[in-house]
Amino acid sequence: MVRKRSEEPRIVTYLHNKAGKLGLPVGATFELTSRCNFDCPMCYVHQCGKNAEARKRELTTEQWIDIARQAREKGTIFALLTGGEPFLREDFFEIYSAMKKMGFYISINSNGSLIDGEIRRKLLEDPPFRINISLYGGCAETYKNMCGTPMYEKVLENIKALKAAGVDVSLNVSITPYNKQDTEKIFNIASEIGVVAKAVSYMYPPIRINGEKFGENARLTPKEAAEYTVRWDLLRFSDEEFEMRAKSMREFADIERDECLGDISEGVGCRAGKSSLWLTWDGKMYPCGMMPKPVAYPLEVGFEKAWEYVNTEVKKIRLPSKCASCPKKNACFSCAAVCYTETGAFDRVPTYVCEQVDETISQMWDAYVSKSKKEVIE
Ligand SMILES: C[S@@+](CC[C@H](N)C(=O)[O-])C[C@H]1O[C@@H](n2cnc3c(N)ncnc32)[C@H](O)[C@@H]1O
Ligand code: SF4
Ligand code: SF4
Repeated sequence: MVRKRSEEPRIVTYLHNKAGKLGLPVGATFELTSRCNFDCPMCYVHQCGKNAEARKRELTTEQWIDIARQAREKGTIFALLTGGEPFLREDFFEIYSAMKKMGFYISINSNGSLIDGEIRRKLLEDPPFRINISLYGGCAETYKNMCGTPMYEKVLENIKALKAAGVDVSLNVSITPYNKQDTEKIFNIASEIGVVAKAVSYMYPPIRINGEKFGENARLTPKEAAEYTVRWDLLRFSDEEFEMRAKSMREFADIERDECLGDISEGVGCRAGKSSLWLTWDGKMYPCGMMPKPVAYPLEVGFEKAWEYVNTEVKKIRLPSKCASCPKKNACFSCAAVCYTETGAFDRVPTYVCEQVDETISQMWDAYVSKSKKEVIE
């Protein structure tokens, strides 16, 4: 049985809520590098063929440790170390250990392919809070299509070994045109190993690297993205849970968005820039990695001033008024980053997402109805 994503401990939610009110950055992502040994086509950070160039521009060991110290002083407790592929940095454990000593709770995002006996030993010696490994397929061929390298066996071996050694492993599953056919296989693998797996079929346009081509990515169509959301939900939920979900989504399905159009817009609804921030591999500070605005420069002005700027500017962002009064809001995952990467403006409606939401509601209902009919016949 696949474990559902473990609920965030209530103390973490409490701390974020409290910190948001006080304007303290309790959570921070440290994007240690943009370099990667994979070349996933939808990636928002890694630029194919530019590893050598990127290496020259990324922060040094000392810069990362210093910025972490400043973050800790400002109240950051939860740190996510990511990339690119963070284990490509030879100084990964130097940064990791220094941050551990400072008292951070550290999670790591990795593609899992570079972990060897030595890395496993070091992780076991001083384990992270959690390691999130992306599983990009259920066979070597899909890995080749999706990541440009047939690393499937190696990744699987590492997931199993870390889990067996007692490290808290969780799987990230990004569904794209290159690996969608393996969705069920991936679910079954997670199930067999007994790890939490979270699948996402919406891929942000990678505007940080593609010249701000808003709304573009090598991704599924909204209809397909909905299809794979529903497929994953059918796999992970019990019949009762799926029924509840389908029914609650269906409730607002027939109300036209324009019927509810108001003129009140809302501000940023998540933690980005309020209680959490993102430090990029080349030394910028963003509210979140998908949202490169507002931007501050902690290497020049110091961490505290950079955070004050991001925190102040985020409060000025207004989202589309149509979203504030949208009847399908509860079924929607849109946010400031989605609006911006899809449209180039925070207050413009991301129509790709509206389409995905409409499709998800209707496909979920269809799946529920055909499931019920099948049960009656049986
Ligand atoms: C950028 S990667 C960095 C860590 C590591 N290399 C990995 O693949 O897990 C972090 C996560 O972001 C996902 N990701 C990449 N591009 C994305 C995009 N455009 N939209 C949403 N998620 C994306 C990846 O699939 C992965 O699960
Ligand atoms: S493995 Fe991660 S960082 Fe590397 S290309 Fe894929 S998504 Fe991007
Ligand atoms: S993005 Fe979401 S909330 Fe906004 S209009 Fe579309 S479905 Fe509604």
